[in-house]
Amino acid sequence: MSPADIDAGGEPDPARDESPRDSRRVFFALWPDDATRTRLARATKECVRRSGGRPIAKDRLHVTVAFLGSLTPVGLEIASTVPPIAVGPFALTLDAIGSFDSTLWLGARSVPKPLTELERRLWGGLEAKGFVREQRIYRPHVTLARRARPVEAQVDPVEWPVAELALVESLPAGRNVHYELLRTWPL
Ligand code: 2AM
Repeated sequence: MSPADIDAGGEPDPARDESPRDSRRVFFALWPDDATRTRLARATKECVRRSGGRPIAKDRLHVTVAFLGSLTPVGLEIASTVPPIAVGPFALTLDAIGSFDSTLWLGARSVPKPLTELERRLWGGLEAKGFVREQRIYRPHVTLARRARPVEAQVDPVEWPVAELALVESLPAGRNVHYELLRTWPL
C-alpha cells in the first residue's frame, strides 16, 4: 500500500508518510528459524540454479503476511499495536515451485487454516487503524529468485513449524536490501 492510501477516517492521519527521511518500509512476516532456513535453501537450491535468476540470500527468506509499505515512526508504532493474534502455532508445508513475472517462489499446495485466519485477522486489525490492504488474494510464498525463468520442478516438501509473527523492516543495503527483525509475537 502507499502511505497516501492510509485514511484514518477524518482524524489526523498519524500513519501518513510526510517525511521521506523518517520513512520505515515494513511488513509482517513469518520468519524461519535457522533449521527451517537451511531446509528451505537446500530444497530449492537446484531450482534456483536452473531458473538462472538472481537468488534471494538465505538470510532473507521469509513469507510475507501483510505488506505495509513506507510508514512514519508513528505509523509503525500504530501497526505494532495490532498483534498478538492468537491463532495458535501451526505447520506450514511448502511444496510447490511457481513463478510469476520473472519471480521464482516456493508456495504451499494447501494453505493451513490458521495462516488464512492470521492474515485475515491481522488485516482486520490494521484496517481498523486506517491501513488499507491490497485487493489481491493472499498467496503465501517464499520468494527465491528475481529475474528468473520459470522452472518446472518438484521439490522435497519443507515443513516449517510456525509459532511467531514477526514485524520486519526493509533497509537499503547497496544494490540489495537488508531485512531487520524488529519484533516478534507468539501466535
Ligand atoms: P515478494 O517477495 O513476493 O515480492 C518485502 O518487500 C516483502 O513484502 C516481500 O516478501 C514482498 O513479496 C512483500 N510484498 C508484498 N506486497 C508488496 C509490494 N506491493 N511491494 C513490495 N513488496 C511487497
